[in-house]
Amino acid sequence: MRVIVLPTADDVSRRAAEVILGCVQKKSKAVLGLATGSTPLGTYRELIIAYCAGKISFREVTTFNLDEYVGLGPDHPQSYRSFMREHLFSKADFDETKCHVPDGLASDYEDYCESYEQEIRDSGGIDLQLLGIGTDGHIAFNEPGSSLASRVRLKALTKETRADNSRFFATGDEVPHLAVTMGVGTILEARRILLLATGANKANAVRAFIEGPVTAQVTASSLQLHPHVTVLLDEPAAEWLQRRDYYNEIEQIQLRVEQRQPVA
Ligand code: GLP
Repeated sequence: MRVIVLPTADDVSRRAAEVILGCVQKKSKAVLGLATGSTPLGTYRELIIAYCAGKISFREVTTFNLDEYVGLGPDHPQSYRSFMREHLFSKADFDETKCHVPDGLASDYEDYCESYEQEIRDSGGIDLQLLGIGTDGHIAFNEPGSSLASRVRLKALTKETRADNSRFFATGDEVPHLAVTMGVGTILEARRILLLATGANKANAVRAFIEGPVTAQVTASSLQLHPHVTVLLDEPAAEWLQRRDYYNEIEQIQLRVEQRQPVA
């Protein structure tokens, strides 16, 4: 796991956008796994800036979002489909027919979840999966206790997650109890994973998933099993890491390797 600590959340957004842009520049038909929440917003802003400056086109890109609330249709203002449209898809040249967000109104979830998996497979698999992290260490909506081999499925949200996400809902509006989410096993099949965490409220989850044991109680810890994960943190999110100096040291060496400079 490559752990990179940057001074501010804006630096995290800029670096994340560089990674995504690099992926699309290398492969115009890249398949991106996308996330919602407040953490990736700055990254999406950077992608839009690059598009508006004529530096990139997303026309041929295919995207798969991690999750969606059950019961919210694509036009519901709090649905993740609306979120993606508002903060990314409509602001650049994405072809929305290639932008997949799970259906929160499917009539047969067993069939539907299998078909979402199949669509990912048919696209050739995800080249780069963007992730945030919940305060309890979840990725997508894989709440504590989720199987580390889980696939796309329905998941009941914990009280903590519903409370965290209530800030996106108008007062009085209930946060749904269920979501359709990619499973941990689905996420681990992405070729490359980029996890972003910013702010002091993520420090506990960050420490647990990077330096704690691999456990279904902290589903982000499953990323320790993936060979190509980059974690971008701002200072407050990295505060409780015990081996920070070591990660910085590795990063310096890694940069020299990438710039083909002597490492010893
Ligand atoms: C939700 C989403 C996750 C996201 C998490 C953190 O639970 N399902 O994909 O990582 O929120 O969101 P935020 O970035 O707003 O803290």
